[in-house]
Amino acid sequence: MPPLAAAVKRSPGVLSAAMREMLPRPLQGRAPAAPLLGTVAVPGDKSISHRALLFAALAVGESRIFGLLEGEDVLATASALRALGAQVERTAAGNWRVWGCGVGGFAEPASVLDMGNSGTAARLLAGILAAHPFFSVLDGDASLKRRPMARVTEPLSACGARFASRAGGRLPLAIEGASEPLPLDCRLAVPSAQVKSAVLLCGLHARGTTFVEEPVATRDHSENLLRHFGATITVEPVAEGRRIALAGQPELRAAEVRVPGDPSSAAFPLVAALLVPGSRVRLTGVGLNPLRIGLITTLREMGAKLAVENERVEAGEPVGDLVAEASALTGVTVAAERAPSMIDEYPILAVAAACARGPTRMLGLGELRVKESDRLAATAALLAANGVRAVVEDEALVVDGAGPPPGGGFVAAELDHRLAMSALVLGMAAQTPVTVDDCRCIDTSFPGFAALMNGLCPPEGAIVPP
Ligand code: S3P
Repeated sequence: MPPLAAAVKRSPGVLSAAMREMLPRPLQGRAPAAPLLGTVAVPGDKSISHRALLFAALAVGESRIFGLLEGEDVLATASALRALGAQVERTAAGNWRVWGCGVGGFAEPASVLDMGNSGTAARLLAGILAAHPFFSVLDGDASLKRRPMARVTEPLSACGARFASRAGGRLPLAIEGASEPLPLDCRLAVPSAQVKSAVLLCGLHARGTTFVEEPVATRDHSENLLRHFGATITVEPVAEGRRIALAGQPELRAAEVRVPGDPSSAAFPLVAALLVPGSRVRLTGVGLNPLRIGLITTLREMGAKLAVENERVEAGEPVGDLVAEASALTGVTVAAERAPSMIDEYPILAVAAACARGPTRMLGLGELRVKESDRLAATAALLAANGVRAVVEDEALVVDGAGPPPGGGFVAAELDHRLAMSALVLGMAAQTPVTVDDCRCIDTSFPGFAALMNGLCPPEGAIVPP
């Protein structure tokens, strides 16, 4: 008998918290009895949280981080940094203190570094480890093991590091870092902030200037936050895209970072408020970096009543409150050029599109195939399972919006947090509830998701066990 089944047999009905974590967590999204009303703050930005920990660990002295996302992805980064010699402590909910080792100051880890579900953690750390003269191995869960790493190992190899991995550059990835890393000068083959950041982090350790050119601007949190920690970094437009220059071997100084709310997490209550009749929700302190807000632009084009209030700048990042009201949406075409500014938001945009009137065409989505799941195929399947007509045409997703969809589908989350949350929101707008097989993955980016959504429509809520 397998160990968990045997333990349940010994003490029926008594499952420890750890054992419960090993069981699938199915949830159902259903139409709430009341509209969504109220004011909530979503958890901290995932991209900025990873970077705040990483850069603080490369700085000298004590950094303080406020509003850190305590999702599993970011906790994987914190554990890896501890294994590399940094002191990383949680002082209160969301508040963390990091004693850094200085640029180039990490020590060889004794064990494999488990990056869980996080592509950002694995790829950014690969950039740092490529420039440390020791042996390290990165591994992750079944989803991360499927994701391509050659996109970082190829440009990083030019610094003198050596890599070994499974076929196609898949994890586990063994790294023999360079003892005298060379500066890099590369043009990104894919528009990816993770690849850009990996190259910059490697270049931080090299003597001389590292250059990265990106064909389309991707999220620039690394540039902003590296500057905040004292690095010299310049960005200039070139004929096609932008060229970033980073001066190597700076003395990074400890800093304070306030992490804004994650616009990619805000997207879920925001779209739910647009779709559930009579709703009005305020999401406070959401990051509004211009390279992250493609979804807001698109939803407004679809007719969403969506206001931005209390705009301000915190730790170099624009922040504001988003106020969303139930709206009648119309289908639109979303150009491929917009993809980098909303790359994580297509599953939830597809849900909004399904409930809109008319077709929505989302172009240039090739990168979705290599996210936590093949999100292009999985999003189309999620919609089809709930009676929505959706087709993948080459790199485009076309969704035929026809108002509240039938729903009633059973969706496999495939270890993809954004897919799970999108399906649950679809259930809130559908005629029949939508069930997701296992929602544990939501904790990677949005711990407390169900409680936050249910708090907006008490007492029965909308996200419940089936
Ligand atoms: C991220 C960049 C994006 C995004 C991911 C977070 C980052 O990935 O999908 O969730 O923090 O740099 P790519 O850079 O691979 O597009």
